[in-house]
Amino acid sequence: MIDYPYQITSLEAYHKAYAESIAQPETFWAAVAKHFVWQKPWDKVVEWEFETPKIEWFKGAKLNISENCLDRHLEHHAQDTALIWEPNNPNTAALHISYQALYDKVNLMANVLKNNGVQKGDRVCIYMGMIPELAIACLACARIGAIHTVIFGGFSAQSILDRLEDAQVAYVICADAAFRGAKTIPLKNILDEAMEQYALIKKCIVLNHCHESIQMKNERDVYWHEEEHKAIQAGQSYCAPCPMNAEDPLFILYTSGSTGKPKGVVHTCAGYMVYTTYTFVNVFQYKKGERYFCTADIGWITGHSYLLYGPLAAGATSILFEGQPTWPDAGRLWQIVDKHQVNILYTAPTAIRSLMTYGDAPFEGKNLNSLRVLGTVGEPINVEAWNWYYHKVGQAKCPIVDTWWQTETGGIMIANLAGITPQKPAFATLPLPGIAPILLDEKGNEILDDEINGQLCIKQAWPGMMRTTYGNHQRFKENYFNTYPGYYFTGDGCFKDENGFYRITGRIDDVLNVSGHRIGTAELENILNKNELVIESAVVGYPHDIKGQGIYAYIISAASTSDTTELKANLLQWVQNSIGAFAKPDKIQIVNALPKTRSGKIMRRILRKIAEGEIENIGDTSTLLDPNVVTEIINGKID
Ligand code: WT7
Repeated sequence: MIDYPYQITSLEAYHKAYAESIAQPETFWAAVAKHFVWQKPWDKVVEWEFETPKIEWFKGAKLNISENCLDRHLEHHAQDTALIWEPNNPNTAALHISYQALYDKVNLMANVLKNNGVQKGDRVCIYMGMIPELAIACLACARIGAIHTVIFGGFSAQSILDRLEDAQVAYVICADAAFRGAKTIPLKNILDEAMEQYALIKKCIVLNHCHESIQMKNERDVYWHEEEHKAIQAGQSYCAPCPMNAEDPLFILYTSGSTGKPKGVVHTCAGYMVYTTYTFVNVFQYKKGERYFCTADIGWITGHSYLLYGPLAAGATSILFEGQPTWPDAGRLWQIVDKHQVNILYTAPTAIRSLMTYGDAPFEGKNLNSLRVLGTVGEPINVEAWNWYYHKVGQAKCPIVDTWWQTETGGIMIANLAGITPQKPAFATLPLPGIAPILLDEKGNEILDDEINGQLCIKQAWPGMMRTTYGNHQRFKENYFNTYPGYYFTGDGCFKDENGFYRITGRIDDVLNVSGHRIGTAELENILNKNELVIESAVVGYPHDIKGQGIYAYIISAASTSDTTELKANLLQWVQNSIGAFAKPDKIQIVNALPKTRSGKIMRRILRKIAEGEIENIGDTSTLLDPNVVTEIINGKID
């Protein structure tokens, strides 16, 4: 039985769907989109050009994604489980939330938001741990047409402030705190610090999750449960899903680029919904009733697209895990797989590499027999990690889908379809229907030969792509469409093998990928430079066994003492306070000077080589103002 009419179930069907999707995108996507609930049908499937750029899918249509994720499942699947919540503490009972129950909670919360003044188009910041209320908050925003911007619970007050200001947020939903492994993160306190410097918050709805002591500011701060109670008393159990235009924004998610501060990636309602659902069903080959476990945090795009919206629109059972893969021990994921009989597991190479280091012990007493499909996302996976995942976790019977995509792409772009199209370790393999990749050399010429590295670009619009950078369309154009006019530029390096399978080799711009977290070197340098003890800094990446890339910072310091231990500790704390702990440099080298050209440009190529340990192979230093600087830096290299 086929649960989804648009599910591709054979290799031939993939090739047919692909060809059709590229030749006739309108017919192709209309045939997929008709399986969703529309309050009003579209006038035109797509209109796009990459110059302005202007991208519109399902123009003229009205819909609400929460209606597609909830209401439409009620008739036949009300009692199916929508979310399974696995708490941080393995001894706390898991929660099974049916589609009916989730619908009830979202409707109530939608009314709570309205009661607190939130209107269509308002930006709502959500700052919570991985708890059901986070999913409920997102869906409630979507239901009333408010634009959510979720901030990952690991971000600092300064990062929150930047986002509040950029998105001109007036409403916040948060939890008192979050449990993460052995730690409790004081979310509300961190948020308070940001809100102290930002006067525009009208209401902050606070969920009491950890029973931490917090400050509640009169008028502004209200408790989630009290507001919910009021709505129940008022009989507000239903909130009609707001009729959204296809191209109305659904959410903003901030991500780092090669320049400046993080940018607000804007995704819109219709195309995003159709694309995430379509790719979820096809890549994982989801079958109704299966249990699907994505370990990503909802604070990142993977959580938005493949924990929340894609799976729920498909009526799937999605597992929401509050804790950490290594707490209370490194067997936690495997324990969850057995406990909840997980069929599909989707995680990141960094988690796989980290769990590999614990050997076999964490697998004792676990059988993992429920697993059918494995997935990876976030960074290139090395062959060794792929093999371990395949043999140890999947017991050589589960296909691995290596899914390449980005915050900007909304959904998976290049990946094998589990068990349908071929897999190859460390290759994302083939583009999904609707995706037209092209490899370009530095001059913008197409690379047609196999095995030649190029810059990955996309030739035509797809439904899930970002539509703009919040508040700054020019930045959207400059970041993604100016490098190669007429193409969407991904920032990734890539080559093809003799089968036409794509292998993503990693970022070619100044963006680092540290444990699957995107960090802009320019952004980090700006922050370091703001520290009063820093005169100048340069940040580069280097290969790291577990994190994929580690962060190496070169610092010219104004500190007078020769003892650098304290200085380094201060800088680490500084970065933690300014961005978050995940952005802390792994190595800090204090230097007297940086290698600069005569025109004053830092030669990062040289710094990268040194950080990578390739000191025999530094290359030409003749254009440097003072080549001696290089020797000095090599001598002081941190191992
Ligand atoms: C960057 C995007 C997409 C969700 C998670 C990250 C890298 C992502 C893969 C993969 C090789 C990958 C790319 C990309 N990346 N998936 N399967 N193989 N590299 O989203 O934070 O926007 O980062 O992650 O470099 O550009 P993101």
